[in-house]
Amino acid sequence: MSETAAEKIKSDVLKRYEERTKKSKAHNETAKQFLPGGDTRSIGFYKPYPVFAEKGNGAYLYDSDGNEYLDFVNNMTSLVNGHAHPHVTEALRKQLEKGTVHGIPVEPKYRLAEHLCNRIPSMESLRFTNTGSEATLFAMRAARGFTGRDKFIKIDGGYHGNHDFVQVNLFPDMTTQGLPQPYVNKGIPASVLKDMLVTPFDDLETTEKLLKENRGEVAAIILEPILGTGGGVPGSKEYLQGLRKLADQYDTLLIFDEIISFRLHEGGYQSIVDVKPDLTTLGKVIGGGFPIGAFGGRRDIMEIFNPMLPDSITHSGTFTANAMTMTAGLANMEIFGEKEIDELNKLGTAFSNGLRQALTDTGTIGQVRELGSMAMVQFTDREMKTARDVVLGFMNYGELMTFFHLEMMNRGVYFLHRGMFNLCTPMTETDINKAVALFKETLELLKPLADEAGQREADFKF
Ligand SMILES: Cc1ncc(COP(=O)(O)O)c(C=O)c1O
Repeated sequence: MSETAAEKIKSDVLKRYEERTKKSKAHNETAKQFLPGGDTRSIGFYKPYPVFAEKGNGAYLYDSDGNEYLDFVNNMTSLVNGHAHPHVTEALRKQLEKGTVHGIPVEPKYRLAEHLCNRIPSMESLRFTNTGSEATLFAMRAARGFTGRDKFIKIDGGYHGNHDFVQVNLFPDMTTQGLPQPYVNKGIPASVLKDMLVTPFDDLETTEKLLKENRGEVAAIILEPILGTGGGVPGSKEYLQGLRKLADQYDTLLIFDEIISFRLHEGGYQSIVDVKPDLTTLGKVIGGGFPIGAFGGRRDIMEIFNPMLPDSITHSGTFTANAMTMTAGLANMEIFGEKEIDELNKLGTAFSNGLRQALTDTGTIGQVRELGSMAMVQFTDREMKTARDVVLGFMNYGELMTFFHLEMMNRGVYFLHRGMFNLCTPMTETDINKAVALFKETLELLKPLADEAGQREADFKF
């Protein structure tokens, strides 16, 4: 049987990827002997194998074979000032000479806390953690400790990290057309289902139903105000303000997970939609390239961790608030204030507009959701309101995205293989225009594949 145009394109893309990333391929082969599948975090993996980084500089990454990439991943949105920013590097160099972690408090610890509390109106006090996962774990523990209740409402397909309770409906339930059924994947105890209630995103009615049915038992509603991993769907002002009202009406707490969305405004996405959550979790950008998380909010809730008070909740961590992380975080935040955020969001708008124009010019079915300095590209015209909508779209165009991602890498652009691009401050208009031009060229090359995906999408019925 002769090879179709789409099959030929796929094998060409793959061949060129393998030819230009020989050293990365060899690294992967060796790594597989010691790390399952050659990797040690799921999100960084893509087929056939990821490239290995040699170094990063500003908006650019360089792999082991010397290939250069304009980096739109920025370590999963955390490097908002790019790689090795001189301001952050200089602060770190000075701190390194004074030791990395001291086992007793250091000043940068409360300076970073002060900085964050000053810029987020709902944040009266906070505590640091080593990861975002730990931050959501402790925000939930705080809510339990404060309310004396065990249950939470979470979003179908919402992501809050690795711990057991938030792994419930990590991906949206695709087995039913109606209300999502809570489920857990392999490795998570089914016992957590007892305390986790699941609602679709953007659905106040279902949330209220769950609150009514579980009156007096729900410690908090936890959600990302922008459904990040679930497809970059932003919560509307009406929805998020509606959740605030429901939380008040049913006397429960509201937790915003702003680990990604904080970057969009000096005071976080909550300032854009004018909602004051009771607790907020932070991570990624506040660490300046080092592992970090933070949770905080209402002082009366956070006092539950005050070691001076009887019955306070224990919260420890060998490396929590170490001097390097605190120093990097503070330096990073100092150069990412209102002006810089505004400029980066504007660059993001120009980028999203450019991508949209490229879709139109090449007649490709698709959409670009502009989220300030982030953009989500999806090769479907399906309306995206929930994580389920996002997965339904992806089920049709997933293969196109896989090859699109590899071909963009062949051309020197690195983005997250599910269609997410995020910008960093060292990026210039020239960089953005270059990326848009490469995006368009790649769409043109992959047209036969895109047409197939578009056709399947049009025929698709769930
Ligand atoms: C919204 C959200 N919450 C929590 C986490 C977990 O953070 P970490 O990977 O630092 O544990 C992430 C990470 O991607 C996230 O995007």
